[in-house]
Amino acid sequence: MQFPACGYGGGMMLATRKVDSMVQFLLFRSRCLRSSGHFGQPRSLEIYRLHCHQVPRGLPIVGYLPFLGSDIHRTFTHLAGVYGPIYKLWLGSKLCVVLNSPSLVREVVRDQDTTFADRDSLIASLTISYGGNDIAFSSYGPEWRKLRKIFVREMLSNASLDACYALRREEVKKTIRDVYDKIGTPVKIGELTLLTVINAVMSMVWGGTVQGEKGSDIGAKFREVLSEIMVLLAKPNVSDFFPRIARFDVEGIEKRMKNHLHWCDRIFNSAIDQRRNMDGAIEEGAGKNEERKDFLQYLLELKEREGAATSITLTQLKALLMDIVIGGTDTTATMVEWAMAELMMNPEVMKNVNEELNEVVGLNNTVEEFHLPKLRYLDAVVKEALRLHPAIPLLVPRRPSQTCNVGGYTVPKGAKIFLMFGLSRGILSFGTIPQNFRQRGS
Ligand code: HEM
Repeated sequence: MQFPACGYGGGMMLATRKVDSMVQFLLFRSRCLRSSGHFGQPRSLEIYRLHCHQVPRGLPIVGYLPFLGSDIHRTFTHLAGVYGPIYKLWLGSKLCVVLNSPSLVREVVRDQDTTFADRDSLIASLTISYGGNDIAFSSYGPEWRKLRKIFVREMLSNASLDACYALRREEVKKTIRDVYDKIGTPVKIGELTLLTVINAVMSMVWGGTVQGEKGSDIGAKFREVLSEIMVLLAKPNVSDFFPRIARFDVEGIEKRMKNHLHWCDRIFNSAIDQRRNMDGAIEEGAGKNEERKDFLQYLLELKEREGAATSITLTQLKALLMDIVIGGTDTTATMVEWAMAELMMNPEVMKNVNEELNEVVGLNNTVEEFHLPKLRYLDAVVKEALRLHPAIPLLVPRRPSQTCNVGGYTVPKGAKIFLMFGLSRGILSFGTIPQNFRQRGS
């Protein structure tokens, strides 16, 4: 069986030559001390510790880039076995620090979350997020807080999600019918789930606006565009590691991403125009606003609001839509695909899941969202799949806004921080885990 690919894509081989590691060390050290001096901090022994002892060997100019391999998170896990839970390496001209222990990750995402709130954005991610006008890639500050508040407290509130439950249910039912019709023939779980998730997310985003065939056409085309976008987001880009040559866009990643942005932008603009026309017709009394409010309607209302504290710009609106359609689709589909793959590899666990579904839902019924709190064994299986196969194993790399101390080591401002989330807790066999979650049927 071929397992789904993890979030980060292939490594990049660059022409290299052997180097005296002492020269490299001196190069690293002088850069680091320069940066610490710049921010008015004393030359620190901690920096010396980090730079002296925790350095996987690299090559001149390209650093460790040629050795990353195709599974960067596995390479980092291997390096952690050699260099410990915190080490630094150079990828091109970029200083990177890798954290590979739950306590260090906690220090960054919880204890020093403000310092590490900024993401180390790639050219591809900045391009597709309208120059970082979204939640995932905008810098920490009032605008980011406003967008996050809108997204978490209002769009993803229970009330808002309950309001569009029927749309999600309909898409899942369609898929189940489709699979049922194909009994006895192979099913591509990954493709099937991705299409279901894309249709469900599109439905929630503008289901009340772009309806019928036009909506499903967009869903099908979006699947193609999304696959390309995910590849470009995961592909190491020379321009990110050598900012001085970024303007040449050597691999053409920025250009291809811009093309995808333009395609998405056209779709967003057309949906916005349709919504405005519908609202215009309602105001003139030509119709009644009886349809369910979709996310787009809600965001357009925010855009029309007075006052910078609660209103959003058109660019922010479109960047938020992009976050939802990109952030919510591939991640969910990858997770489902991994869970199914693990279940197929572990018949005992599959049997337990089936038994629980029979007990809680019944053979002739469809699983509904209200069943979920009672499906505790299934819940444990999903969590285990997420833990073993995180859709984004390194999260989104962070960038400290000031030089700071993590686990006793000084981490310079502007470094790229990789957080080994999930895998840092060790790899266990899927089949053995559910023994801890046998409280079924309660
Ligand atoms: C199984 C499904 C999902 C997984 C595994 C997943 C995973 C992640 C991860 C790992 C991050 C980065 C967190 C960090 O670096 O701190 C993230 C951020 C984000 N995700 Fe998801 N996600 C999923 C579903 C969704 C859905 C359904 C949506 C939208 C409806 C969404 C929207 C976002 C957004 C907007 C961010 C940026 C949040 C921020 O910067 O604070 N995700 N997700």
